[in-house]
Amino acid sequence: MIVTVANHKGGVGKTSLAAHLAFRAAERGNKVLAVDFDAQGNLTGTLADRGKALRADGSDKLFSPDAVPVPMPGVDPNISVLPATAALNATDRGQLSQAFTAIAHLKTLGKEFGFIVIDTAPALGLRLTAALAASQRLVIPLQPESYAVDGVSSLLAEAVSISEHMNPGLAPAEFVINAVNARAKQHSQVSARLAQQFKVRTPYLRRAIAVSDALAAKRPVWRNATNSAVGNEWAVLCDELLDEFGVVDWT
Ligand SMILES: Nc1ncnc2c1ncn2[C@@H]1O[C@H](COP(=O)(O)OP(=O)(O)OP(=O)(O)O)[C@@H](O)[C@H]1O
Ligand SMILES: [Mg+2]
Repeated sequence: MIVTVANHKGGVGKTSLAAHLAFRAAERGNKVLAVDFDAQGNLTGTLADRGKALRADGSDKLFSPDAVPVPMPGVDPNISVLPATAALNATDRGQLSQAFTAIAHLKTLGKEFGFIVIDTAPALGLRLTAALAASQRLVIPLQPESYAVDGVSSLLAEAVSISEHMNPGLAPAEFVINAVNARAKQHSQVSARLAQQFKVRTPYLRRAIAVSDALAAKRPVWRNATNSAVGNEWAVLCDELLDEFGVVDWT
């Protein structure tokens, strides 16, 4: 099962969600590969040792016809990581044939890893094309702002085009609403509107400092015990998504 987390709006929770899905799938006893397609390297920083990542095969190697890149160990024994490198941004200027190389390499890695999650950069480009063309699922985190949906239409168009021309196995996008302020009336109105338009997963995730605290501590929010209500929300949401994806719970 290969899943891409994307939204070309920045700071909506892509990396946070990708990291939590990786942690949860690993807790469920799966061999997990986290692929960092964003040169900022935030997923790499959360799930692996950044210093060691500099000497490891980076996710840019997926775009090269050489051997399949070798993932590095992550913070959890069940998690491996293909880290971000500075070379990543240049891959967006590559040829479409390189996207096909990346798809083939990801599929090969899919034989070893039961769950692969790809965190993407806030951009449309060859990396996103490759990620979507290799994935069965696309998850789009959104923040409940009035214009949250505006930019998403081009991502959805890209996903539909890829499912029609390159990857019939890509299912319609799942949406996750993140960073909700339950007291803000506008947030509940926008969330309700999004749920009418799209396949939105529940629970909605509230805005809470516990989330960034946990990621800085390289832990999922349900294992960082500063706010158990928030931890529970993220655990339930990740289980909802993983159940929907058919990711087995071996425990
Ligand atoms: N529910 C939340 N409550 C509070 N902070 C959050 C929440 N979700 C994410 N954050 C924080 O918001 C910031 C942006 O989140 P994140 O990095 O996951 O977004 P992103 O979409 O990956 O951003 P980018 O587009 O830059 O890659 C991070 O500091 C993260 O810790
Ligand atoms: Mg990110």
